[in-house]
Amino acid sequence: MTARLAVLVSGRGSNLDAILDACAAGTLPARVTTVISDRPGAKALARAAARGQPTITIEARAFSERALFDAALDAELSRHSPDFVVLAGFMRILSDGFVKRWLGKLVNIHPSLLPAYPGLHTHRRALADRATVHGATVHFVTPALDAGPAVLQVEVPVRPNDTEQLLAARVLNAEHRLYPEALRRIVTGQVAFRDGAAYCGDARLARPERLPHLHS
Ligand code: GRF
Repeated sequence: MTARLAVLVSGRGSNLDAILDACAAGTLPARVTTVISDRPGAKALARAAARGQPTITIEARAFSERALFDAALDAELSRHSPDFVVLAGFMRILSDGFVKRWLGKLVNIHPSLLPAYPGLHTHRRALADRATVHGATVHFVTPALDAGPAVLQVEVPVRPNDTEQLLAARVLNAEHRLYPEALRRIVTGQVAFRDGAAYCGDARLARPERLPHLHS
């Protein structure tokens, strides 16, 4: 079965590209049926359009309240009936009602080894802590910010002379490997959301598997 994915973006769209590449290569048995941005100028929209992907913009600024934007987003998503809603650099916090409505289908990528560094500026915070290992996490979204059950992680080393930019680039590169693989596990049913947790078959994933770092 080819899963239907709706991808939500706000910015650059490099993870969207990685997902589209994996779909095209057949390593991810899925099809991106819609790309939705909350920002009209998002580079991700141009990237998607260049690949012939239909896109929609629901401009967040046009709505006076979060709940109204989320209702518009919900209506648009419902029209497409996606199997999964994939947040790929989507920079809005979604209301609890929206998250509950799409619970188990809503997936996010976060640039840290959660539960370390939820929220913003993850690379800066890892450097300030002199962390030696950093990375990224794909997780199911629950109402608590960046705290939903993890599906898969990837590790990257923090190098002695790292700057925030160098570390961010290393993590982003690893994300492009992580997200398609995590989505593959989800769309094939290898990992599923049940009762607030991620399961691999009957086993609750207490700790997510970590992909090792590949590049120097
Ligand atoms: C990634 O670092 C992702 O982890 C975070 O936002 C960034 C999106 O990058 N949630 P891109 O738009 O996919 O290039």
